[in-house]
Amino acid sequence: MSTSQPDEATKATAKAVDDLPLLRGNRIRLRGFRQDDIDDVYALYSDPAVTLFWSFPAWTQRAQAEDLLQHAIVSCSSDKILCWAIADSGSDRLIGSLTLFNINRAQGRADIGYALHSGQWGKGYAKEALRLVLDYVFDTLKLRRVEADIDPRNTGSCKLVQGLGFRHEGLLRERWLVDDALQDSAIYGLLARDWHNQRRS
Ligand SMILES: CC(C)(COP(=O)(O)OP(=O)(O)OC[C@H]1O[C@@H](n2cnc3c(N)ncnc32)[C@H](O)[C@@H]1OP(=O)(O)O)[C@@H](O)C(=O)NCCC(=O)NCCS
Repeated sequence: MSTSQPDEATKATAKAVDDLPLLRGNRIRLRGFRQDDIDDVYALYSDPAVTLFWSFPAWTQRAQAEDLLQHAIVSCSSDKILCWAIADSGSDRLIGSLTLFNINRAQGRADIGYALHSGQWGKGYAKEALRLVLDYVFDTLKLRRVEADIDPRNTGSCKLVQGLGFRHEGLLRERWLVDDALQDSAIYGLLARDWHNQRRS
């Protein structure tokens, strides 16, 4: 029998997997990223329609997908960042991503970001995914507040969060410089009490 101890990287990956819950919806499931998601991850972020209002320009090299996967798999921690793959419940193929980041347990807040393959837009998948994560954020992590930073021209994303009860709380001008273009940030916020009241009514 081997008595060798797991190395640091193996332990970090095991902790990351432990920290990321599987969230099941009707049509989708939110699970951890896997190495075999690479083609679907590359397809997601190399699509200029998806990155039009994103914080980086559309990818042009597969190595960028490898880097993201590596980071998304090992860095998950409920004290820092949680990276979910949004997968089709039937096929388990990745159709998008949802990240909870800047998690600050002491202050009770976190930021949320999400993207879906453009062929899957308009089917209610993003709403289903955000609902699952917001239940987890407020019921299990017991955070008080979730924030979304959205380019005000991104009508789809603004409508999505407004429909979930986020309030528009302000505008930060010229906050991002992506591909030589400046972008404003509309800040949306959702409080635990708003979410719970909404769920009750
Ligand atoms: C934003 C995004 C995730 C929305 O995903 P989606 O699965 O199409 O959204 P849903 O189908 O769940 O729609 C949720 C609500 O938003 C509305 N909506 C979505 N896209 C819309 C659009 N382009 N214009 C108007 N309303 C839109 C829907 O009608 C729906 O409203 P309802 O709840 O009243 O029915 C998707 O467009 C995307 O991945 N965009 C690229 C990445 C991105 O910009 N991410 C956000 C960065 S802040």
